[in-house]
Amino acid sequence: MNDILAELETRRAAARLGGGQARIDAQHARGKLTARERIELLLDEGSFEEFDMFVTHRGTEFGIDADRPAGDGVVTGWGTVNGRLTYVFSQDFTVFGGSLSETHAQKICKIMDMALRNGAPVVGINDSGGARIQEGVSSLAGYAEVFQRNVLASGVIPQISLVMGPCAGGAVYSPAMTDFILMVKDTSYMFVTGPEVVRTVTNEVVTAEELGGALTHTRKSSVADAAFENDVEAIAEARRLLDFLPLSNRTPVPTRPFFDDPARVETSLDTLIPENANTPYDMRELVAKVADEGDFYEIQAEFAKNILTGFIRLEGSTVGVVANQPTVLAGCLDIDASRKAARFVRFCDAFSIPILTLVDVPGFLPGVTQEYGGIIKHGAKLLFAYAEATVPKVTVITRKAYGGAYDVMASKHLRGDVNYAWPTAEIAVMGAKGAVEILYRAERGDADALAQRTRDYEDRFANPFVAAERGFIDEVIQPRSTRRRVARAFAMLRGKQLQNPWKKHDNIPL
Ligand code: HXC
Repeated sequence: MNDILAELETRRAAARLGGGQARIDAQHARGKLTARERIELLLDEGSFEEFDMFVTHRGTEFGIDADRPAGDGVVTGWGTVNGRLTYVFSQDFTVFGGSLSETHAQKICKIMDMALRNGAPVVGINDSGGARIQEGVSSLAGYAEVFQRNVLASGVIPQISLVMGPCAGGAVYSPAMTDFILMVKDTSYMFVTGPEVVRTVTNEVVTAEELGGALTHTRKSSVADAAFENDVEAIAEARRLLDFLPLSNRTPVPTRPFFDDPARVETSLDTLIPENANTPYDMRELVAKVADEGDFYEIQAEFAKNILTGFIRLEGSTVGVVANQPTVLAGCLDIDASRKAARFVRFCDAFSIPILTLVDVPGFLPGVTQEYGGIIKHGAKLLFAYAEATVPKVTVITRKAYGGAYDVMASKHLRGDVNYAWPTAEIAVMGAKGAVEILYRAERGDADALAQRTRDYEDRFANPFVAAERGFIDEVIQPRSTRRRVARAFAMLRGKQLQNPWKKHDNIPL
């Protein structure tokens, strides 16, 4: 009996070594943790239950049958993150470069199927040379099985990808279909074709880091949501992100004890808006002053900085925040901002996360580049996302809400539940100067007359009261009491029920 027990331990120890100590050392030398070390950091101590530790590949070509390491290059199982169930797979670069074989894919699929059935998030840790070259089409089939599950799980359970090494070729499409991608600077990259192919085909010379590194994908392409200095930081942030998310679309948003008075008054907000309507101010200050303990988990902080997206808590419960940022492009909506915010709004709606929208928007960004780039279609994404969302929606207009952008930003007309404005709000078709130039073209040469016209327009429209008179704004509130008003509004909306007409699915302008 003792021999049998000992053999189990021997086999386990061999499996835990993956591709062997030399390759583990090489992994460490690159500043990367191993697949198992990453799981240990991600999950609560001692909570990991591993599956399929002894699975081996079934490949026979190119001599690979001589080497059948236990686990086949991916560590899978489940555990808890701050006590909440989480499934995980972590590719082991020390085993055939973490490449994906038929059986490696089956292990991932098993985890995904369980996560879907049992309603809990999947965290995928990617560190792989892609399709197992020795397996050919069996490996491609394995990828497609994973892709199919990514799609079926989308909107049902949160899916988070940590990219912590190579992720190239078609392999990028699995993370791409998950909800959030977190990358590590200098050690991770994602691209459809690598620098060599790029040089051959287009004559462009780039490094892997330039082509598909963490900074490229968080600043330029927006493929990834955040970039971190090392594995440890990225994993800690993944844990923090999971804390905000519900386990599935069948469970409510998590709540946790809070120690911040929901009625906290912030007198400093009364002077947040500068005297001059064209002077920017940092919308993050408002977000932080509304949030429990000032905690704001920003999503895509480095991309389309003219709009902020992320999670806060109010009275301990998760709320998604979308906010125009006047310090960048005056807070205009452009293609990038519309896409960024639309995807975030849809994530929140899919997982019943209420949405707080903070508005200071002078309109859509004008220009040839924007029009040729399809701002019409991309702007429509955000409009569409807000209009279809059935979660509680609370909106606060702090300053400008001009033109179509007023409509888009969770206005009353798109089923905003509670729409507040600060006394400094200006709700109109456009700013005073532009309006007067169009309405009084004939008086163009007369500066005094135009100045008077501008003052008249401002008196009439540069305030929230015209909208309030029509009930489009439910109440004009004191800036200092924003946290209390917003928290109470969401509390009032906790029982909200609203359903869209039955359809197979909508046809959002992609
Ligand atoms: C089998 C692989 C492998 C792969 C790496 N290895 N990639 N084995 N299939 N795809 C093995 C290597 O043979 C090596 O084994 C070990 O993993 C480490 O690889 P190195 O090359 O030594 O490491 P490094 O120098 O860090 O380079 C990493 C790499 C490189 C950039 C990922 O290995 C590479 O270019 N691999 C091929 C990538 C690729 O073209 N994959 C197919 C992409 S197409 P030993 O025994 O020496 O340790 C694809 C299609 C997906 O993935 C389609 C989905 C629809």
